[in-house]
Amino acid sequence: RKTRPISCSASPPVTLQHQTTDSPTRIGSLSQVSAVLGCQWGDEGKGKLVDILAKHFDVVARCQILNGSKIIPSSGLSEGGANAGHTIYNSEGKKFALHLVPSGILNEETTCVVGNGVVVHLPGFFKEIDGLESNGVSCKGRILVSDRAHLLFDFHQEVDGLREAELAKSFIGTTKRGIGPCYSSKVNRNGIRVSDLRHMDTFPHKLDLLLSDAASRFKDFKYTPEMLREEIERYKRFAERLEPFICDTVHYMNESILQKKKILVEGGQATMLDIDFGTYPFVTSSSPSAGGICTGLGIAPRALGDIIGVVKAYTTRVGSGPFPTELLDKAGDLLRFSGQEFGTTTGRPRRCGWLDIVALKYVCQINGFSSLNLTKLDVLSDLAEIQLGVSYKHSNGTPINSFPADLHVLEQSKVEYETMPGWQIDISSIRKYSDLPKAARQYVERIEELVGVPIHYIGVGPGRDALIYK
Ligand code: GTP
Repeated sequence: RKTRPISCSASPPVTLQHQTTDSPTRIGSLSQVSAVLGCQWGDEGKGKLVDILAKHFDVVARCQILNGSKIIPSSGLSEGGANAGHTIYNSEGKKFALHLVPSGILNEETTCVVGNGVVVHLPGFFKEIDGLESNGVSCKGRILVSDRAHLLFDFHQEVDGLREAELAKSFIGTTKRGIGPCYSSKVNRNGIRVSDLRHMDTFPHKLDLLLSDAASRFKDFKYTPEMLREEIERYKRFAERLEPFICDTVHYMNESILQKKKILVEGGQATMLDIDFGTYPFVTSSSPSAGGICTGLGIAPRALGDIIGVVKAYTTRVGSGPFPTELLDKAGDLLRFSGQEFGTTTGRPRRCGWLDIVALKYVCQINGFSSLNLTKLDVLSDLAEIQLGVSYKHSNGTPINSFPADLHVLEQSKVEYETMPGWQIDISSIRKYSDLPKAARQYVERIEELVGVPIHYIGVGPGRDALIYK
């Protein structure tokens, strides 16, 4: 094959290599490099859209870690939990929980890329591969793990717990999966990358430095020479097993772009949890926004085409942190129960509130979405009236013109609402936009008008088919 100089230009729509004749035109006209990103604080329902789109793409890539997504089902079941990844179902209805492996894995022709922006917990990764292979899904040669990705060790998870205990009342509410501490090692420049597994002569020293660093920082972190020895032996075995998966994914991604392969970037978490743009410090340690696609995969901004933002028709948030449109009354309970807003493993109720247009506009600015997927519109069906949080004011009545960085300002801000009529009929079996009740269409169109981004997909139920293409 001839090699060409890499020059990525804005990706035009190209013919899908896996497109089936019944693919909705909406999907068929997506750009060569498209992405799905969360617009709020996670749990928006990205999994369902990724699941629907993935089979139409040649490559499905992850640019940063997923943090507890709970996917979606052709069967309409919801699944997962605090530590769950995407749960997808094959054509026979068999369930697969994916944490690190991209959702395209069930489609034999799709190549799955775990990009440099992901932190990889190898014991978890192999467990996932074993689960897939024992169910007949072949992974070898189909999953490419970036040689630049950082390794997340078990000790990072222990440190996560120690840090949360230390923060006591002002804890951030992490999932204690070690993600924050691993990204910290990366930024401290003493992290260990996948490519380091190819150098077992220097690996032990690097691991020793990393563990000693944790031991000097946390008095309750017990570090012994035996622990180091065991970990080195374990990682020697992992290194051998990982070798066939290791790839220079930056080169692979850019070559794939030149070869006109269709690439879907599967975002995890959401912009309001972004380390820079989210409600800091109640955020994650990476960039779940559009910028994170380029830094997490090594592709140029000009290569990106469609970026679809996924936004719930209302707002939910897990854990601590400000939430201006939160409902602490019966309306919040109603959203929680109708929307099944509970961590499925923990049963922990999610905080619920009205859709926050100020936050959504801010997120649209940051990501430059080409379209939105409004999910869970069906959950609002019982309400006589629906509120949209359209602007914020300071406590002294002066308007706030942009989404505040200052959490004190955010906490004290007063939200101004627009009241919209409800529709009060079940919309879960509707599949055509024009069949939605007038009030539901008014709600959708008012959101589009306020944020200036078209809504192309509307979720009216958890099942894969419960989607309206607008
Ligand atoms: P994170 O990656 O953890 O942020 O989650 P996510 O964005 O991947 O959300 P997920 O796909 O786990 O969806 C959350 C829940 O919403 C799942 O239980 C889905 O079944 C459900 N869901 C998705 N879309 C819809 C919808 O349109 N209506 C209803 N009723 N449920 C939906």
